[in-house]
Amino acid sequence: MAILKIARMGHPVLNRPADAVADPTAPEIARLVKDMMDTLDDAQGAGLAAPQVHVPLRVVIFSAPYEDDSAPYEDDDGASQAVPLTVLINPEIELLGDQRSEGWEACLSVPGLTGLVARWETIRYRGLALDGQTIERQATGFHARVVQHECDHLDGIVYPMRMINMAQLMFCEERRHYIRSGAADEEEEPLSEDP
Ligand code: NI
Repeated sequence: MAILKIARMGHPVLNRPADAVADPTAPEIARLVKDMMDTLDDAQGAGLAAPQVHVPLRVVIFSAPYEDDSAPYEDDDGASQAVPLTVLINPEIELLGDQRSEGWEACLSVPGLTGLVARWETIRYRGLALDGQTIERQATGFHARVVQHECDHLDGIVYPMRMINMAQLMFCEERRHYIRSGAADEEEEPLSEDP
């Protein structure tokens, strides 16, 4: 088990496009993914991209809880369930429709802060698993958000760069205080990376 150091916003590895993985089944990729899983578990986040652990390769991992208000991920039997921890290598995103929705995001590379980000509501994504098999899914809501957030890391984009109104970038503690004081409606907890 290895918990890797997480790069913070400002480190050059977070600002460059990551390189495609030549062989998803290579042992060093399996080792990288295992270490990323240990790191994500330790940080208690929803997702992690390889550049965040100083490895400029196109690899992301993420999971998403079941949400009543979004079309859930369906497994092979058509049953609704949370999105299990997924490894996606060389991912691609296709936008479906033109609807966007705003949500609060946080990122392990931007500790302590949260910001309101508009993301595409519905996407289809595909990529390779560790065994080289293709994964292709449609996603909405939080599921779509976490995938867009993680894949942005592969293109050198950190969520504040997606924000329109920087007044909505704030410390998590201040936002919680603001909500507790009744000055804001109770809202869902931010996507904690990471979204
Ligand atoms: Ni992030």
